[in-house]
Formats: sequence, structure tokens, C-alpha cells
Amino acid sequence: MGYVGHRQALDVVLGGLRRMEYRGYDSAGVAVLDGAGALTVERKAGRLANLEGALSEHGLDRFAGTAGMGHTRWATHGAPIDRNSHPHRDASQRVAVVHNGIIENFAALRAELEADGVEMTSDTDTETAAHLVARAYADGPTAGDLPASVRAVCRRLEGAFTLVVTHADQPDMIVAARRSSPLVVGVGEGEHFVASDVSAFIEHTRQAVELGQDQVVVISRDGYDISDFAGEPAQGKPFTVNWDLSAAEKGGHEYFMLKEIEEQPEALANTLRGHFDRGRIILDEQRLSDQDLREVDKVFVVACGSAYHSGLVAKYAIEHWCRLPVEVELASEFRYRDPVLDRDTLVVAVSQSGETADTLEAIRHARDQKARVLAVCNTNGAQIPRESDAVLYTHAGPEVGVAATKTFLSQIAANYLVGLALAQARGTKYPDEVAREFAELEAMPAAVQKVLSTVDQVRELSRDIADSKAVLFLGRHVGYPVALEGALKLKELAYMHAEAFAAGELKHGPIALIEEGLPVVVVMPSPKGRAVLHAKLVSNISEIQARGARTIVIAEEGDDTVRPFADELIEVPAVPTLLQPLVSTVPLQVLSAEIARSRGYDVDKPRNLAKSVTVE
Ligand code: AGP
Repeated sequence: MGYVGHRQALDVVLGGLRRMEYRGYDSAGVAVLDGAGALTVERKAGRLANLEGALSEHGLDRFAGTAGMGHTRWATHGAPIDRNSHPHRDASQRVAVVHNGIIENFAALRAELEADGVEMTSDTDTETAAHLVARAYADGPTAGDLPASVRAVCRRLEGAFTLVVTHADQPDMIVAARRSSPLVVGVGEGEHFVASDVSAFIEHTRQAVELGQDQVVVISRDGYDISDFAGEPAQGKPFTVNWDLSAAEKGGHEYFMLKEIEEQPEALANTLRGHFDRGRIILDEQRLSDQDLREVDKVFVVACGSAYHSGLVAKYAIEHWCRLPVEVELASEFRYRDPVLDRDTLVVAVSQSGETADTLEAIRHARDQKARVLAVCNTNGAQIPRESDAVLYTHAGPEVGVAATKTFLSQIAANYLVGLALAQARGTKYPDEVAREFAELEAMPAAVQKVLSTVDQVRELSRDIADSKAVLFLGRHVGYPVALEGALKLKELAYMHAEAFAAGELKHGPIALIEEGLPVVVVMPSPKGRAVLHAKLVSNISEIQARGARTIVIAEEGDDTVRPFADELIEVPAVPTLLQPLVSTVPLQVLSAEIARSRGYDVDKPRNLAKSVTVE
């Protein structure tokens, strides 16, 4: 956040950071302009308390001033340590920048700066923005004009970013810019704010202005001014925040999980962003060469809970794209079954927290057996990525709800990227095929957004079946892991008995469970995929309907053959066969959350569960 006004900036900014702590972070920092040309910065890894300790240790009096900014960082590039914490400054220490998001082309910008003799002091993408703004402000067409300098730099950045920029020469203004990352202005009396979300300034003002894509705002004591990246005047969207502080943290939703369900398009887009460059899939910290990947003759995916279900989806994709045998194993079972591993085995460890003890022990076992480990993780610098040979980070952002939603969809997308990276290295897919698959992935955030706009039907249905004593879930092919995930959601949120089966298993026992009125959710494969699968599942549905089940069918829009057998039909957009879990999971997340709500349970903190299971 940033502040210019009549109060002590340090107090306002620290207060704002405290109210944004719920967003999850791993380091924090502040910068204050004292009005006499000094810009003072303090930043620390860890909790806000570490920063406050450092501030008092170094003397709070150094931070007198009524303009300033601060940041709680969720690490994406560069481990969560002091020198990677924001604000980042240029060499003169007169420009300070904080940043949310991912500057995709930072490597090229960093190389350009280093070639010009700039010495980088961190591993972050953000630092490049600080140096670029300082250079644009120091000379050339935007010299001495901070807003113009920021605009010039924004025109060069690719990716998603919210930037807040200060310059010691300009103690009465703060400049902020956004692209595909949130930024709102707070409008007060003789004071103005910028922040990622309104919870940072809601105690001071409820008058806010939402900024549009590719816009820059300059705030001062007396006002704010918005322009586009070309410098043309632009309008923001004024609104009054009618949420209380707690609701503000949840974006106006009653629970974080509901907000996180809505954040899934952005989480998917951020997870995919930057992983396809000049015709090639690129992972994050890839310490596995294409040759290493070519030598792989077997893949294990190890994970727990929802992450395990994302691994089951990955199995279909990797086997289909790479013609490699893939085993998916519960991390807690993996090392006790004495798996056959060697240096040509790739173990993919999927974990949003990166701290799950079962998964951590599994990869330690794998490495003892000389297997190579690739982590798919949502938490930069966590233990599992640190102990892996390669890492692919999901950029879902912090997930506060205990039940996995946006991290689950992001894990599926990341697992697809691993599959494409393997297919690319092994040549089982030509570059144009890899490009095509990636383009189909890039269309998924919009498809998920479309599902989110039609889930009211699911909310109604949820209340209708909330008193059922059990719900069954059926699926085939990639729909089977989705059924498993739907059942897990219902167990962990509504404490209901819920069970998922591969639909082909029905006649081998589970069909005995079917009775009058029992809700059965069926995840239909696309009729475009394996038609035989679709036909078989239609006959499964007619079997259970004939025995009294209440069939709730998730099917591709326009799939009319299934309509006569669906007591409830929930349509999702038509997407490629292997990508269908990304759209068919969303209604099941909403179903469970709504049933839990109608039962009066705490959707964010289900009983007996923790967000990260760090014990075996
Ligand atoms: C799923 O909703 C749960 N939150 C839980 O099953 C979770 O997926 C599992 O504990 C794995 O956690 P991880 O991804 O942090 O390793």
C-alpha cells in the first residue's frame, strides 16, 4: 500500500499491512519520505513483528514523514529472505518500489541493466523495475517526471503487476500502476491511499476508486490523477466500500473459500503465465536438463488429499502425451510399499503448502533411491521445493480456506505443464503440438470464469440436498479424479458421508448403495472424447436412476443425450477432453461449500482439519 496525507505514514502503512496479513506473506517492508529529500526503508523476512522489531531497533524517529508505502510479500521469484524483501531500491537509494505479481520479461530486463553496469542486489523480478524507473527519471524524455517515468517503464513490462513507486525528490506524491493485478485508490480528507485491497485503508475511508487495466494513478494529499500507460487521462470507477473490515478481507464474501473459488481464473492464468517462451515450455527452477527428462522411464506422482487427486488427473495427461508409465501414490503409502525407483525415475511431488510431512518424507525416500524429484508447489522457498531437483510453482496466491480450491485447479494446470515439458524433451509431441496444447490451457481461465457465472443453479440444488445422509460421486477417465475431489470436499466441509467410484465399478458392489432419492453426482466425459466412455456412463446413469437415485449430472453444454437421465443437469463449457477437470470441479466446490453453509458450519475452518499437515 501507499499513503500521502497528514498522518504519520509509518503508522498508517503498518496498520494497513496488519489488515492485509490474512493474505499470507513471508516478508514485509516499509519506505517513508520525510519531506526533506530523505527516503528511509526497512524490510525483514518473516512476520510483521520482525519488521516492527527492526524499526524500533534502528530508531523509529528516522521514519517521521507523512508519505510512504509498505508491502507484505508472497514470494514468487527469489526466496523469502531480507534482501529479496520489498521495497526494492535503485543504486542511488532514491527510488523505492513494491510490487505484486510476476514481471515475465524480467530476465531480459535484468540482463540489459547488468550489461549497463547496474549491480543487482536481489534475486527478484521487482528490483529491475526500481532500476528502470530510476534511469527513466534521471535522464531522457521523462527526466524529472516521476509519473511519466513509471508509465515509460510499464510500457516495457510483460506479465502481471501492481507497482507502487516513490522517489525522494517527490515527497508529496506516490505513483502506482496496475496490469492484471489488483489496485484500488482510497480517497480521504487531505489524504489518499493506494492498496491491493480496500482492507488496507477501510478504517480511514470507505470512498474508493477501482482502477482499470494498464492504468497509472498519482496520489497526493489533495487528490489523485489517473492516466493510461500512454499518458492519456483516464477514469477510475468510484465506489463506496459497504463491507466491514472482516468482509473486506474476504472481498465481500462470507468466507475466504468462496472468494478463493472466484479467484480460480486468475490463479490459473498466473500459474500458466511465463511458462511458454519462444515456442518452448519452461519450468521454474529447472535443474533437470532435457537429457535428464529424456532418460526418465517411469513417473511417480506422490501427494496427499486434493493434491493427490490432481496427480490422478496428471496421470492421464502424461501417459497420453509422453507414453510414459505413471504411478500415482498417496505420499503416506509410498515409501512403505517399497516402490521400485532408480535414477531414471521421476518423482513429481505435488503440495500447495510444500510442508506436508507425508510428502516430504516420500521425496526424501525417493532421493535416497537416487530418483529425481520435481516439486509442484504453491509456497516459494518451502521445504519440499528446497529438497527437490526441480520446481514448478503454482501462482495461486495464498489460500486461506482449509479446503483446497484455487490451489487444486492450479496444481492440475501445473501438472499439465510438467507433462508438456516431458513430451517436449522426449519429442513425443512436436513443438507445434506443444504450442497447441498450451494455447488450449491458456483458454481455460475464461472457461472457468464462465462456469462461475452459472453456479447459482448449484447453490439452489445444494440447499435442496443438504439434509441427505450421503452423496455418491461417479466419474470415468479424467472425470474419476474429479469425482474423488468432489467427495473429499463434501466430507471435509459438510461432514457428510460422501464416496466416489469409478462408474464402471458400480455393478461390482456399490450399486447396492442406491436407494430412493439418494443424490448421485455424475461427472460426464465430453461426448467428443472417447464416445464409448460417454455411452457407458449414460447407461450407468440410467441404471442408478432406475433404482431411484437422484441423478445430478455435470455435463458439457449441448450434451443432449444425457439430458433425459439427469434429474439435475449442470452444464459446463465444452473444453478438450484432458482439460475437463478444470471446469467440472468448480460446481462440486460450490456444492460442498453451500451445503456446509446451509448446515451452519464454518466453511473456512472445518472441524479437525489444518491447512498444512506437518505431522505424519
Ligand atoms: C483438501 O481440500 C485439503 N486441504 C487437503 O486434502 C490437502 O489437499 C492435503 O492436505 C495436501 O496438502 P498440500 O497440498 O499442502 O500438500
